[in-house]
Amino acid sequence: MGSGAAMSDDALISAAREAALQSYSPYSNYAVGAALRFADGSIVTGTNVENASYGLALCAETVAVAKAMGDGIRGGLQAVAVVGPEGQGTPPITPCGRCRQVLNELAALGGTDPIVLCVGADEVRRVLLSELLPHAFGPDHLGA
Ligand code: THU
Repeated sequence: MGSGAAMSDDALISAAREAALQSYSPYSNYAVGAALRFADGSIVTGTNVENASYGLALCAETVAVAKAMGDGIRGGLQAVAVVGPEGQGTPPITPCGRCRQVLNELAALGGTDPIVLCVGADEVRRVLLSELLPHAFGPDHLGA
Protein backbone atom coordinates (compact mmCIF):
# COMPACT_ATOMS: atom_id res chain seq x y z
CA MET A 1 0.00 0.00 0.00
CA GLY A 2 1.23 3.50 -0.81
CA SER A 3 1.44 6.58 1.38
CA GLY A 4 -1.69 8.49 2.31
CA ALA A 5 -0.89 11.27 -0.12
CA ALA A 6 -0.27 8.85 -2.97
CA MET A 7 -3.49 7.03 -2.21
CA SER A 8 -5.52 10.23 -2.25
CA ASP A 9 -3.83 11.25 -5.48
CA ASP A 10 -4.95 7.94 -6.97
CA ALA A 11 -8.48 8.62 -5.78
CA LEU A 12 -8.39 12.08 -7.34
CA ILE A 13 -7.23 10.65 -10.67
CA SER A 14 -9.98 8.03 -10.49
CA ALA A 15 -12.53 10.80 -9.92
CA ALA A 16 -11.22 12.63 -13.00
CA ARG A 17 -11.43 9.44 -15.06
CA GLU A 18 -15.00 8.92 -13.90
CA ALA A 19 -15.91 12.51 -14.80
CA ALA A 20 -14.55 12.02 -18.32
CA LEU A 21 -17.23 9.36 -18.85
CA GLN A 22 -19.77 12.22 -18.92
CA SER A 23 -17.83 14.22 -21.50
CA TYR A 24 -19.88 15.89 -24.22
CA SER A 25 -17.24 15.97 -26.95
CA PRO A 26 -18.87 14.78 -30.19
CA TYR A 27 -16.76 17.13 -32.31
CA SER A 28 -13.27 16.37 -31.02
CA ASN A 29 -13.96 12.92 -29.59
CA TYR A 30 -11.43 13.95 -26.97
CA ALA A 31 -12.96 13.27 -23.57
CA VAL A 32 -11.34 15.04 -20.63
CA GLY A 33 -12.04 14.78 -16.90
CA ALA A 34 -10.84 17.07 -14.14
CA ALA A 35 -11.06 16.66 -10.39
CA LEU A 36 -10.36 19.32 -7.76
CA ARG A 37 -9.47 18.38 -4.18
CA PHE A 38 -10.01 20.86 -1.37
CA ALA A 39 -8.52 21.21 2.10
CA ASP A 40 -11.53 19.54 3.72
CA GLY A 41 -11.05 16.48 1.49
CA SER A 42 -14.01 17.23 -0.75
CA ILE A 43 -13.72 16.63 -4.48
CA VAL A 44 -15.45 18.52 -7.29
CA THR A 45 -15.24 17.17 -10.83
CA GLY A 46 -15.86 18.49 -14.32
CA THR A 47 -15.72 17.32 -17.90
CA ASN A 48 -15.42 19.07 -21.25
CA VAL A 49 -18.62 20.36 -22.84
CA GLU A 50 -18.43 21.15 -26.54
CA ASN A 51 -20.78 23.13 -28.75
CA ALA A 52 -21.91 23.06 -32.38
CA SER A 53 -20.25 26.48 -32.48
CA TYR A 54 -16.87 24.83 -31.96
CA GLY A 55 -15.07 27.75 -30.37
CA LEU A 56 -17.47 27.78 -27.44
CA ALA A 57 -16.18 24.50 -26.00
CA LEU A 58 -15.69 24.48 -22.25
CA CYS A 59 -12.73 22.54 -20.88
CA ALA A 60 -13.06 20.05 -18.06
CA GLU A 61 -11.00 22.16 -15.64
CA THR A 62 -13.09 25.26 -16.28
CA VAL A 63 -16.32 23.33 -15.75
CA ALA A 64 -14.96 21.93 -12.47
CA VAL A 65 -14.01 25.40 -11.23
CA ALA A 66 -17.42 26.77 -12.23
CA LYS A 67 -19.16 23.95 -10.38
CA ALA A 68 -17.09 24.54 -7.24
CA MET A 69 -17.54 28.31 -7.26
CA GLY A 70 -21.24 27.87 -8.05
CA ASP A 71 -21.44 25.85 -4.85
CA GLY A 72 -19.87 28.71 -2.93
CA ILE A 73 -16.32 27.38 -2.66
CA ARG A 74 -13.79 30.21 -2.58
CA GLY A 75 -10.49 28.62 -1.60
CA GLY A 76 -8.70 25.61 -0.17
CA LEU A 77 -7.75 24.21 -3.57
CA GLN A 78 -4.98 21.69 -2.88
CA ALA A 79 -4.78 19.45 -5.92
CA VAL A 80 -6.10 19.09 -9.44
CA ALA A 81 -6.10 15.93 -11.58
CA VAL A 82 -6.58 16.06 -15.34
CA VAL A 83 -7.17 12.98 -17.46
CA GLY A 84 -7.60 12.78 -21.23
CA PRO A 85 -7.72 9.85 -23.62
CA GLU A 86 -5.08 7.41 -22.42
CA GLY A 87 -3.98 5.61 -25.56
CA GLN A 88 -0.55 4.04 -25.86
CA GLY A 89 2.25 6.57 -25.49
CA THR A 90 -0.07 9.50 -24.77
CA PRO A 91 1.92 12.27 -23.05
CA PRO A 92 0.61 13.76 -19.79
CA ILE A 93 -2.26 16.16 -20.52
CA THR A 94 -1.64 19.67 -19.27
CA PRO A 95 -4.35 22.31 -18.74
CA CYS A 96 -4.72 24.80 -21.58
CA GLY A 97 -3.75 28.41 -21.01
CA ARG A 98 -7.27 29.59 -20.30
CA CYS A 99 -7.81 26.84 -17.74
CA ARG A 100 -4.57 27.75 -15.98
CA GLN A 101 -5.92 31.26 -15.52
CA VAL A 102 -9.33 29.98 -14.38
CA LEU A 103 -7.70 27.62 -11.86
CA ASN A 104 -5.50 30.46 -10.65
CA GLU A 105 -8.50 32.56 -9.64
CA LEU A 106 -9.83 29.89 -7.28
CA ALA A 107 -6.36 29.09 -5.95
CA ALA A 108 -5.55 32.76 -5.36
CA LEU A 109 -8.75 33.29 -3.37
CA GLY A 110 -7.52 30.76 -0.82
CA GLY A 111 -3.83 31.59 -1.11
CA THR A 112 -2.85 28.08 -2.23
CA ASP A 113 -0.58 26.81 -5.00
CA PRO A 114 -2.20 23.50 -5.95
CA ILE A 115 -0.33 20.53 -7.34
CA VAL A 116 -1.60 19.60 -10.79
CA LEU A 117 -1.54 15.89 -11.65
CA CYS A 118 -1.25 15.59 -15.41
CA VAL A 119 -2.07 12.03 -16.39
CA GLY A 120 -0.40 10.32 -19.34
CA ALA A 121 -0.23 6.74 -20.51
CA ASP A 122 3.09 6.04 -18.83
CA GLU A 123 3.50 8.74 -16.19
CA VAL A 124 1.70 11.22 -14.00
CA ARG A 125 3.45 14.58 -14.27
CA ARG A 126 3.16 16.55 -11.03
CA VAL A 127 3.57 20.29 -11.41
CA LEU A 128 2.57 23.25 -9.30
CA LEU A 129 0.03 25.63 -10.79
CA SER A 130 2.60 28.40 -10.31
CA GLU A 131 4.96 26.46 -12.59
CA LEU A 132 2.25 26.18 -15.24
CA LEU A 133 1.33 29.84 -14.90
CA PRO A 134 4.26 31.89 -13.59
CA HIS A 135 3.72 35.57 -12.81
CA ALA A 136 -0.04 35.03 -12.93
CA PHE A 137 -2.47 37.91 -13.15
CA GLY A 138 -4.92 37.56 -10.27
CA PRO A 139 -7.33 39.23 -7.87
CA ASP A 140 -4.46 41.00 -6.11
CA HIS A 141 -3.75 43.06 -9.19
CA LEU A 142 -7.23 44.52 -9.02
CA GLY A 143 -7.04 45.03 -5.28
CA ALA A 144 -9.82 42.46 -4.96
N1 THU B 1 -9.76 20.14 -23.27
C1 THU B 1 -10.02 20.10 -21.92
O1 THU B 1 -11.15 19.84 -21.49
N2 THU B 1 -9.00 20.35 -21.08
C2 THU B 1 -7.70 20.56 -21.45
O2 THU B 1 -6.86 20.76 -20.61
C3 THU B 1 -7.34 20.52 -22.88
C4 THU B 1 -8.47 20.46 -23.83
C5 THU B 1 -10.87 19.85 -24.18
C6 THU B 1 -11.37 21.00 -25.01
C7 THU B 1 -12.00 20.27 -26.18
O3 THU B 1 -13.32 19.87 -25.83
C8 THU B 1 -11.16 19.02 -26.34
O4 THU B 1 -10.44 18.88 -25.10
C9 THU B 1 -10.17 19.07 -27.48
O5 THU B 1 -9.38 20.21 -27.41
